[in-house]
Amino acid sequence: MNNTKNVVVLASGGGTNLQALIDAQHRGELGSGKITCVVASKADAYALTRAKDNGIKTRTLIRKDYDSVEKYSEDMRDILLEEKADVIVYAGFMTILGDAVCDTFKDKMVNVHPALIPSFCGKGYYGLHVHEEALKKGVKVSGATVHFVTAECDAGPIILQKAVEVKDDDTPETLQLRIMQEAEWKILPQAVALLCDEKIEIKDGKTFIK
Ligand code: GAR
Repeated sequence: MNNTKNVVVLASGGGTNLQALIDAQHRGELGSGKITCVVASKADAYALTRAKDNGIKTRTLIRKDYDSVEKYSEDMRDILLEEKADVIVYAGFMTILGDAVCDTFKDKMVNVHPALIPSFCGKGYYGLHVHEEALKKGVKVSGATVHFVTAECDAGPIILQKAVEVKDDDTPETLQLRIMQEAEWKILPQAVALLCDEKIEIKDGKTFIK
C-alpha cells in the first residue's frame, strides 16, 4: 500500500502551487507521492524552470498548437500513460481536459481552485478573474478548494477547502496572494498526500478521509 506513487503535475503559468508541492516533498510531507514529471501547456511557463531547478523531468504539450481539446486530451493521456502517472495534479493548469484523460485517470486527478466551490467556479473562472468576481460580489470570505477532476469543470468531489478573509482594501492581486499563501499552498500538498496514501474514499459524489 505504501509503494511510491508517481505524481505528474500539470501547469500553465508561474507554478507557485508546484513549488508548494516540491517544498512539501522536501519536508517529507507528500506521503508516498514523488513528483516524477511536470507537463506544461505553455512553453514559457515558469513552472518548467522550477521543475528543472529541482531535478524534475519536464515535458510540454502546447495547447495553442491544437485546434481541438479532444486531440489535445488524447495526446495528454498518452503522455500520462508514458510517464506511468499514478496521481495527476492540476496546479494552475488552465485547460479543461476531455474524456480521454478523465476516463483513463478517473479518481486519480486533483485540481486546486482559488475559491470556495461552488462559488466563483466553472468555465471562465480561472486565475485573477476569480478574485475580481469575488471582490465585485463583496464576499467577506473566499478561499481555495482541492477537488477531483471530472470532465465537467470544477464539479468533481471536493477533497479539502480552506476559507480566507477578504479585506475591504483588497485588490484582485492582494486577495489572490493571501488565498495562495493561507490556503492553496497548504491544502494542495495535503490533498495530494492523502490521495497518494489511499486515504480518500468517494461515496455518492462526496469524499471521506479514512
Ligand atoms: C492559482 O491561484 C490556481 O488556483 C489558479 O491559478 C493560479 C495559478 O498559480 N487556478 C485556476 O484558476 C484553475 N481554474 P500558480 O501557477 O502560481 O500555481
